Amino acid sequence: MNVLVVGGGGREHALAWKIAQSPLVEKVHCAPGNAGIAQVAQTWPVQAEDIPGIVALAKEIGAGLVVVGPEAPLCAGIVDAVQAAGIPCFGPDRRAAAIEGDKAFARELCRRHRIPGPGFWTFDDLRKALAFLDNRSDDPIVVKASGLAAGKGVTVAKNRAQAAAAVRECLEQGRFGAAGATVVLEECLEGPEVSVMALTDGKTIVPLDAAQDHKQVLDGDEGPNTGGMGAFTPVSFVRGRSWGQIENQVIIPAVHAMNRESRPFRGFLYAGLMMTNNGPRVLEFNCRLGDPETQPLLMRMQSDLVPYLLATAEGRLEECEPMAWDPRTAVCVMATSEGYPGSYPKGLPIHGLDEVETGPDLQVFHSGTSRRGSDVVTAGGRVLSVCALGADIPKARARAYEALERIQFRGMHFRRDIGCR
Ligand code: AMP
Ligand code: GLY
Repeated sequence: MNVLVVGGGGREHALAWKIAQSPLVEKVHCAPGNAGIAQVAQTWPVQAEDIPGIVALAKEIGAGLVVVGPEAPLCAGIVDAVQAAGIPCFGPDRRAAAIEGDKAFARELCRRHRIPGPGFWTFDDLRKALAFLDNRSDDPIVVKASGLAAGKGVTVAKNRAQAAAAVRECLEQGRFGAAGATVVLEECLEGPEVSVMALTDGKTIVPLDAAQDHKQVLDGDEGPNTGGMGAFTPVSFVRGRSWGQIENQVIIPAVHAMNRESRPFRGFLYAGLMMTNNGPRVLEFNCRLGDPETQPLLMRMQSDLVPYLLATAEGRLEECEPMAWDPRTAVCVMATSEGYPGSYPKGLPIHGLDEVETGPDLQVFHSGTSRRGSDVVTAGGRVLSVCALGADIPKARARAYEALERIQFRGMHFRRDIGCR
């Protein structure tokens, strides 16, 4: 079978790498891909958001399965279009992807179905939002653009003034365009965070092991939020009782809620959770795998992923066995461009990639890279990540950092405390 992976980030590199190992797969294709993905798949210059272009490509290469990585094409209805062309496509359809694409909807869904989350208030009128803040205490509050903002639409405001500035960015200055035309204000919760992803076809649920992301750009969780600076899995505090709470209070009710609202969800459902003293609370739902959580997760996944993806797309996930996982820990450290998550340069040569000896226990997954002649150059804010397996977090960390120290590009930044919490 030929498989087409849609997207061009680190998550898609890990997906293409994993899918290429399946004995069911003849050839992996990827659109648009990146310089790293080109080592495991044939890449095509078709953008992930170009839905007619992706449908045409899937037909041209005779794809037996299309796997969509990023949220933007999912929210725009890529799965509906590929399936309408008669090709199995993995991922939620447009209506189900709203669980990520419309945060106001996701919050209302949680309220209607008693899925635990922070208190929240939704505004599309600047004056009303500012008046609400004026009448509130000066405590921290979270401001979110309701639409898609590539992980950058959230401000954890320490006080009213910061919150008002973030609200103005959305509703007055249009920083996120239409995605910021509605803001969601949320009660600020405290506790450790965890990312839980589950495969579901709307009837059967196959949970993946938990992972932890590091969203802020600087060590010690300082600085602005990014798409993710590093991740590790498994997460020691998520087992036994707290795992049961996550399944029973969040994952199962969310799948059920989407069915009841006639938006059956098929794909990877991602819950970004805060483990508070009162149990898990949903910070966000995503309609796809996390990036960078996918990279360490797929290094630990021993099962062949392809039968799960096909079974999900075809609504027969009940036929699949539970997944097998490498019990070791995987740590992933992201290297980013100078200035990210603000503006950053592109096209800088990346050195040292050949000096990293990759194998089943150590991988370099490319995020924003491209090829220029014989050079691999930077092409995004998040550039690449190194992922390593080890007996425990310190061993996996040591391995990942040792490899990352061999790679350089001008202005390269990475956090030195991934896995240290
Ligand atoms: P999100 O993209 O919605 O997961 O938010 C990005 C990050 O902002 C999360 O990983 C949290 O660190 C933080 N955050 C989001 N919502 C809240 C909340 N209600 N309370 C505290 N922190 C939050
Ligand atoms: N790493 C967080 C996300 O993918 O949304």
